Amino acid sequence: MKKTLNPSSTILITGAAGFIGSALSERLSNNNFSVIGIDNLNKYYDVNLKLDRLKRIETVGRENFEFIKMDLCDGPSIKGLLTDYSFDYIVHMGAQAGVRYSLENPQGYIDSNIQGFFNLLEASKGLTKLKHFVYASSSSVYGGSKNLPFSESENVSRPVSVYAATKACNELMAFTYSHLHGIPLTGVRLFTVYGPWGRPDMAAFGFLRKILASEEIEIFNNGNMKRDFTYIDDVVESVLRILAKIPSKLGTNQHDYENAESCSRVLNIGNGSPVSLMEFVDILEKCIGKKARIKFVKFQPGDVKSTFADMTEFKQLTGFEFRTPLDVGLQKFVSWYTSYFK
Ligand SMILES: NC(=O)c1ccc[n+]([C@@H]2O[C@H](COP(=O)([O-])OP(=O)(O)OC[C@H]3O[C@@H](n4cnc5c(N)ncnc54)[C@H](O)[C@@H]3O)[C@@H](O)[C@H]2O)c1
Repeated sequence: MKKTLNPSSTILITGAAGFIGSALSERLSNNNFSVIGIDNLNKYYDVNLKLDRLKRIETVGRENFEFIKMDLCDGPSIKGLLTDYSFDYIVHMGAQAGVRYSLENPQGYIDSNIQGFFNLLEASKGLTKLKHFVYASSSSVYGGSKNLPFSESENVSRPVSVYAATKACNELMAFTYSHLHGIPLTGVRLFTVYGPWGRPDMAAFGFLRKILASEEIEIFNNGNMKRDFTYIDDVVESVLRILAKIPSKLGTNQHDYENAESCSRVLNIGNGSPVSLMEFVDILEKCIGKKARIKFVKFQPGDVKSTFADMTEFKQLTGFEFRTPLDVGLQKFVSWYTSYFK
């Protein structure tokens, strides 16, 4: 990371026990930033994995990392936290993630993603030390758009899952809070993140577990799907570089708003090289050294067929080129998985 953030900064990371939040917490606390991590440690997937991620941060970041168990939906506690600590930066990764689960439990998404985000925005009003608030949006806001690659200027008012709708809603709320209260906000539209300490509900994790156990893996839409798989270390580096680039009023934003002024923007974070699901399985098989047993199943409601990030805006802003090809990243993921679960 370029030393453009002041190492004496205090940073709030929400979802600190999650896949991406824990990787960011580890990197920042290891680089001598003061990191306060919050998470409600919910049971969406194995809590032991979340606790182990926290242990790893505490080992690497030692005294620079403090964990507080807190729910984003608890407005008074969030307000108290932001008043007690003078945060320089907020990195908001805490959310109910997962497209498919939002068909089963939409309420959880409204609570954590909309109420939780609202609580953080409300508590951020008037914080004079707060320099930049970066929050996770998602490539799923592009819905079924056929305009590939997905560019930030695309109309995102057609989300096809409740999860995507909550992320699109976050982007609107961010614009409003930035406009009304001058909070500099950047939403990062993340594209299928994978890597060590990943999420058990995602393809890389689920496929690997099943292939090792000689169970069938389900391939949706007969494999006619493409994803822009993005390696965790590249995501961490990208978020840190974005954090150091504070948006100014109507600054670098690409959108042409006529009347409303806002220091809010959105940026894609994706590899920019989509891979078909079958190609993904093929690379994973090679990394494991074992063939998958495949069952083809139909397209799932809420899913999208292809994702592909246009990274022009991001590269112009940060100058960063993604470094990790899928075969390299998947090999690292397989190595981590086999040593973690041995
Ligand atoms: N991983 C990806 O591929 C991907 C892609 C697009 C967007 N995102 C977004 O990035 C962010 C991080 O994703 P992740 O993959 O690390 O997911 P994750 O589920 O591993 O991490 C999210 C964390 O937030 C916590 N959390 C959920 N609700 C909470 C609440 N109400 N209060 C406090 N903590 C709460 C969870 O316990 C979890 O540890 C999320 O906003 C997600 O929607 C992720």
